[in-house]
Amino acid sequence: MSDAFIEAVLIPGDGIGPEVTGAACRVLQAAAAPIRWIECHAGLAALERNLPVLPEQTVEAIRRTGVALKGPCTTPVGEGFVSVNVQLRKRLDLYAAVRPVRNLPNVPSRFQGVDIVVIRENTEGLYSGIENEVAPGVVTSLKVATERACSRIAAWAFRYAARRGRRRVTVFHKANILKLTDGLFLRCARAVHERYPEIAYDEMIIDAGCMKLVQDPSAFDMLLLENLYGDVVSDLCAGLVGGLGVVPGANIGEDCAVFEAVHGTAPDIAGRGLANPLAVIMSATMMLNHLAETRGREELRRAASRIRTAYDRALAEGLRTRDLGGTLGTAEFTEAVIARLGEPAAG
Ligand code: NAI
Repeated sequence: MSDAFIEAVLIPGDGIGPEVTGAACRVLQAAAAPIRWIECHAGLAALERNLPVLPEQTVEAIRRTGVALKGPCTTPVGEGFVSVNVQLRKRLDLYAAVRPVRNLPNVPSRFQGVDIVVIRENTEGLYSGIENEVAPGVVTSLKVATERACSRIAAWAFRYAARRGRRRVTVFHKANILKLTDGLFLRCARAVHERYPEIAYDEMIIDAGCMKLVQDPSAFDMLLLENLYGDVVSDLCAGLVGGLGVVPGANIGEDCAVFEAVHGTAPDIAGRGLANPLAVIMSATMMLNHLAETRGREELRRAASRIRTAYDRALAEGLRTRDLGGTLGTAEFTEAVIARLGEPAAG
């Protein structure tokens, strides 16, 4: 076991970003996670320092350290500002979007027993941005699928499934209509699955899959989706367990990974100490698990497990922020999680 610190970039972000990322850093420190933060800026926080919305030094720091925890960023409305998230995804080739969705104790939701990991291909499909006006009143948008991108996202998904002990990967598709593009996605997924016979694999036409998802989400384990389907279905899945406020996320590439909550900067409550830090704490926990796997540092997995047990316990005891129907502020909830870290992690 190494006791060396791992450097990671911290982007506090805008609005509630500094409050919730600050809370996550306090929890990691209390859990003795050996992370040394390098603070970098993006979004309005960067503009205010006379930097571009995504400064070169921020991108370089993520390249160098390989990992970042990011708060939500404001993309100023107006010409010339490309979303920080889109830029990061492109610059760092973060091709796998990962969103684990599960029920949390005392968080109101339509379903119980939900524990799904949604994997979305992040780089092509209809998001390739190839749109044309072929004639007045006639426009087209090109859906791009490449064997390289389809194979690497499938390989990523099955590798994740194998490492995390997941049982089944389900692909949602529309290959009955989009025979070439979705057909290629399916062929690549099937080919990768051959290397993982211990993991079950199935395919569903996306309309039928969505119906099944809202009838019985507990029937699903992992979903593997191309870009547009992944975008839509991952929010649908978040809605199954109580909404975007309690769901973490990650964008992962070959060399770098950026972890962040799904919610935005919440300008209506920014600076008031009311924001729920849970989704960022969960994202930071994902970051620890990712580092444990990629750097072979088992103590990080134990820290992640302690943190997860601590926030589950806090929630189970009815300790919640206002957005979840509770009364606690950001700092009080954070302290409640920290106070429960001392107890041994389950499992
Ligand atoms: P939002 O997620 O910031 O807020 C929607 C509602 O949810 C608000 O009522 C807000 O108070 C509440 N909320 C969000 N997070 C919360 C938390 N942690 N605790 C308690 N309540 C919370 O979405 P909105 O209003 O559409 O976007 C606001 C800004 O955030 C925009 O500038 C948008 O571009 C940016 N944004 C940035 C993202 C990112 O950087 N990853 C993602 C989504 C939005």
